Amino acid sequence: MVDKSTTEMLQQYWLYLIYLLGSVFFIVGLKMLSGPKTARNGNFLAAAGMTIAILGTIFMHKNEDGESIGNYGWIFGGIAIGTVVGWISAKKVKMTAMPQMVSLFNGMGGACAALISLVEFGHMHHDASPATILTIVAGLVIGSISFSGSIIAYAKLQEIMKKTFKLPAQNILTIVLLLSILGLSIYIAIGHPSAALFYTVFVLSLLYGILFVLPIGGADMPVVISLLNSFTGVAAAFGGFLYDNQVMLTGGILVGSAGTLLTILMCNAMNRSLTNVIFGSFGGGSSQGGGDASSFAGGAVKSSTPSDVAILMNYAQKVIVVPGYGLAVAQAQHVIHELEALLEGRGVEVKYAIHPVAGRMPGHMNVLLAESNVAYDKLVEMEEINDQFATTDVVFVVGANDVVNPAARSNPASPIYGMPILNADKARTVIVSKRSMAAGYAGIDNELFYYPNCLMLFGDAKDSITKVVNELKGM
Ligand code: TAP
Repeated sequence: MVDKSTTEMLQQYWLYLIYLLGSVFFIVGLKMLSGPKTARNGNFLAAAGMTIAILGTIFMHKNEDGESIGNYGWIFGGIAIGTVVGWISAKKVKMTAMPQMVSLFNGMGGACAALISLVEFGHMHHDASPATILTIVAGLVIGSISFSGSIIAYAKLQEIMKKTFKLPAQNILTIVLLLSILGLSIYIAIGHPSAALFYTVFVLSLLYGILFVLPIGGADMPVVISLLNSFTGVAAAFGGFLYDNQVMLTGGILVGSAGTLLTILMCNAMNRSLTNVIFGSFGGGSSQGGGDASSFAGGAVKSSTPSDVAILMNYAQKVIVVPGYGLAVAQAQHVIHELEALLEGRGVEVKYAIHPVAGRMPGHMNVLLAESNVAYDKLVEMEEINDQFATTDVVFVVGANDVVNPAARSNPASPIYGMPILNADKARTVIVSKRSMAAGYAGIDNELFYYPNCLMLFGDAKDSITKVVNELKGM
């Protein structure tokens, strides 16, 4: 006969096995996210890992007295509400609003980590070790910063908050605030776990998150979101330490390290340091920006018609499409694929040049073009395609702006100076599809539009390309 303690031990081993399996699912799922063909299944796999880890914890975890978690009504009620809200908002969100949604969801993760610390501080034994207290306080600090910072990032991206705010002596203020949080946290951990101090740290951390993100310019928000995402991962990992929960620890570390790597990659792609992103107020005035057409003295832009564009493309040997944020706004991914197929059918070689920060989130253009079944081998990364522009007949810039701005190469006074760009200007003819002379996300004018080899095709990208396709069909 199997006694009670043996049953409990067996259950504990099963739970470890589930955690191990959940962790493996997370790691393999994350790996699969790195390729467009496997990304969807990778996402499902990681979600399955999370599901078994949650169910295993709810039904098989026992506390030191051998009691189950219980509270099933609350737990499944919360899961049901979260699932419905998450499902509906994920279904309804537009691709262009994805960054703010990620920011909001990330903020919720930070809030959860902070709530764990708030609850566990109340449960803490009076003889808790400094390491335990420090773990609780670290989860509180990082989770709260991530929560309030993410909400501000959301408000900026959603354009609820249109301006950047910089207080006088902002940098000194935030450094003093951060040092106070660190000092108080250590003081609490080394034997002064008073509730008043703990809640003071909580409030200061929320304030720090707000002040940290407020002055950062709109154009840098994706980097900030990625950084805050890594904070949430670290905060969750502290929760894993606290509960001795291996899968929570692994998940937290994976999110923390993936967020950090992504932050570094984005900074490298813009050739800017993280310090410059945090303190630079880049693209701060308005996230949309507004170009001043008069700023390039002596220059005049040349407009073209869909018919001109169709003729140029029809007689080209090679066309490179440079997609940007405007392609997503116009939802022109299907019609650009139609144009590509039409041209290829006439013997024109067509490729897409993908800048690492085109659009508003990492991989934005890849996801968008995959949606319309553009063959993946047609998408060429910047380093690989940059030398090909000089031998290209037509470059078709669709809703892109900053990523083809030659000022990044030639004008040391430009805020984007040093950012690697696509050398679209080197092609024989450049056609730019956009609605007006308005600036891109960085809020600066683009001298490419005034170059002698550049033609503007004004109008919504989807409308304009549809007209080009119709013209081509008639040729
Ligand atoms: P942007 O420089 O933002 O330019 C987009 C252009 O699309 C605008 O000039 C706009 O001009 C045009 N547009 C908008 N709606 C359109 C429509 N319906 N039809 C046609 N055109 C339309 O885009 P980009 O070149 O992709 O550059 C991305 C920017 O985001 C860079 O500054 C980059 O540093 C920043 N950023 C991106 C990331 C990631 S991860 N992607 C991260 C950090 C920063 P009109 O208004 O005249 O149409």
